[in-house]
Amino acid sequence: MLELLEGKNVNLRIVEKEDLPLLSEWFNDPEFTGRYNPFDAQKSRIETEKKYDKLTSEERWFFKENKDGSKVGFLGHFPQGRFLEIGYALIPSERRKGHCAEAVKIMVDYLFLSKEIVRIQAYTDTRNTASQKVLEKAGFKREGVARKSMFVRGEWRDRYLYSILRGEWKEPKTLTKTTS
Ligand SMILES: CC(C)(COP(=O)(O)OP(=O)(O)OC[C@H]1O[C@@H](n2cnc3c(N)ncnc32)[C@H](O)[C@@H]1OP(=O)(O)O)[C@@H](O)C(=O)NCCC(=O)NCCS
Repeated sequence: MLELLEGKNVNLRIVEKEDLPLLSEWFNDPEFTGRYNPFDAQKSRIETEKKYDKLTSEERWFFKENKDGSKVGFLGHFPQGRFLEIGYALIPSERRKGHCAEAVKIMVDYLFLSKEIVRIQAYTDTRNTASQKVLEKAGFKREGVARKSMFVRGEWRDRYLYSILRGEWKEPKTLTKTTS
């Protein structure tokens, strides 16, 4: 089974069961999930384990790793009808280094190379400039606003919907190697 997707500055490593305590710690840290994600993104260790046990080839979780092997973020893809959606977050000390966009590009290369899909999408809060820049740098286009589509910290928030189509991606650019 696939374990590692390698890029120039960062890698994506599949999350193993023994990694779940770290992931659960991250998911429960509001600094990690960020101000634009709902508190119900948080889950107990048991809930995280139950969800992990039900993952399929359409829903996979990865760590963003630096080249020294340190785990510094999360990226996941999950099914949304006949196409896939992605989500991501980095630990605060690793933000603003330009590495999230590279991680998203690796994920896009991997998904278009390994799955017969024509579309990958992502939502971001309309205030989440960093996330919008990440998606745009990775080749996603903004499609429009999903109004009042997520309840975050006491209010219904508008989100932008972004997508990248297979025809816009054309060829792998960032993924350099996969290891099983
Ligand atoms: C969204 C997130 C993953 C972006 O990661 P990042 O490593 O900071 O992104 P990058 O370093 O690749 O930066 C991308 C761009 O956003 C800009 N940026 C980063 N943080 C920013 C901020 N707080 N405000 C405005 N712009 C910001 C960067 O300068 C860069 O722009 P540039 O290409 O013009 O220089 C990170 O902020 C995060 O984990 N946030 C919490 C979780 C979250 O919101 N996830 C997304 C849910 S849709």
